[in-house]
Amino acid sequence: MNEPMKHDLVFDADMVRRYDLSGPRYTSYPTAIEFHDGFGAPQYREWVRRTNAESIPRPLSLYFHIPFCSTVCYYCACNKIITKNRSHAVSYLEHLYKEIQAQGRLFDRQRTVDQLHWGGGTPTFLHEEQMEELMSQTAQNFKLRDDDKGEYSIEIDPRQTTPQSMAVLRRLGFNRISLGVQDYDPLVQKAVNRIQSEEETMAVVEAARDNGFRSLSIDLIYGLPHQTRESFARTLDRIVQGDPDRLSVFNYAHLPQRFKTQRQINAEELPAPAEKLAILQLTIERLLDAGYVYIGMDHFAKPDDELAAAQRERKLYRNFQGYSTHDDCDLVAMGISAISSVGDCYSQNVHTLEEYYERIDREELPIIRGVELGEDDKLRQQIIRELICHFSLATNTIEDDFDIDFSSYFATEIEALRSMESDGLLRISDDNIQILPKGRLLIRSICMVFDHYRQRNATAGKFSRLI
Ligand SMILES: C[S@@+](CC[C@H](N)C(=O)[O-])C[C@H]1O[C@@H](n2cnc3c(N)ncnc32)[C@H](O)[C@@H]1O
Ligand code: SF4
Repeated sequence: MNEPMKHDLVFDADMVRRYDLSGPRYTSYPTAIEFHDGFGAPQYREWVRRTNAESIPRPLSLYFHIPFCSTVCYYCACNKIITKNRSHAVSYLEHLYKEIQAQGRLFDRQRTVDQLHWGGGTPTFLHEEQMEELMSQTAQNFKLRDDDKGEYSIEIDPRQTTPQSMAVLRRLGFNRISLGVQDYDPLVQKAVNRIQSEEETMAVVEAARDNGFRSLSIDLIYGLPHQTRESFARTLDRIVQGDPDRLSVFNYAHLPQRFKTQRQINAEELPAPAEKLAILQLTIERLLDAGYVYIGMDHFAKPDDELAAAQRERKLYRNFQGYSTHDDCDLVAMGISAISSVGDCYSQNVHTLEEYYERIDREELPIIRGVELGEDDKLRQQIIRELICHFSLATNTIEDDFDIDFSSYFATEIEALRSMESDGLLRISDDNIQILPKGRLLIRSICMVFDHYRQRNATAGKFSRLI
């Protein structure tokens, strides 16, 4: 089944079956599995000091994790806390403000915040006054932009948002939103415990437009219980009518041993692998037909969206929030389980509220683990990033940047890529590796070839697949 598609993407079911290995999504390299407890707050502080000392101050990207949700969606794999008790947010925010103050003291105040993101859980679990206070605390401790030129985004649950709060969010400086939708079909919604009408979603979409948000993204999931080609096609048609600038269409990986709430999902109601593959194919066809560009790794955008423009200009970047147009920021992430990336290190905060409160009350940074990148990590990080963002790798640039001979350093990897080359997924030339239309959907399997830690990861069964 070889279906030619527009925009340099070809869906080849045989290739997907053959190469769709379980693997990381490469929001970082090395991935979080490699973080260890030998890296903590002292090492993090040292990296902040080094980056502050750079001659050209690097801008910052701030992430805030708001873990609360008032109801549970059974499929969910995010780090969240389900509660209807709004007072839980009060003590969380008090501790978060202390972390913001502690982090703010570390960074040179000349470093502007080019990117800011509230994720979760559900950031719109917070009341309007709490949102105002969180942004005000941030502004007191970091240099926020006031020209609306930053990428300031928030994840929104339309069931937890009113058109009025959209106006508040815009006034606070947000200019992009992503909305959780997943599927409009009532049967699917019931099976995953997420009842959300099209009307409430569209009310937020319209409020976002009225308030001048620059980019609106919608999250969908394929592979949920009761989904069929027909049902998902209906959802896609209605979503496309709403005209979002971007779409994320995530694969549902059923891992009930790892995510307890997924045990509420009846595995027999999940679409069979062949049907799931067909749903993916149909999704790609519909979205490309509707004029969206495939950015890569679950993401689609309109050709005039900044993400698509950045990809054309080779200025796309990837971090823990997915694709981004800001490539030179240090990422400072706050709240439980948040992952920072400063200089050549990654670090992660503690996972539970108890540990978080305890560390903050002791006036410590709540970092639990992390990793410092060695030279080989940095080299592979750049290769994986280039491939994921631009579907091509200028090997001669890598040779210049890292002072290596690419073909001898990566002799084993090139050998492994040869079978993918003969299957038409990519083309290797003297100074370039080009991902061909058939290989684009399988980019993470291609990146895994360059992942030094991949064998250990693959056997650990920690990662999901496309299908
Ligand atoms: C933090 S939620 C978005 C904000 C808000 N909590 C909501 O659900 O509307 C992030 C997104 O992750 C995706 N997601 C969560 N669990 C998933 C899973 N098991 N498989 C695939 N995608 C998942 C959903 O598309 C969800 O919208
Ligand atoms: S999908 Fe969103 S609202 Fe649902 S449980 Fe996960 S984080 Fe909460």
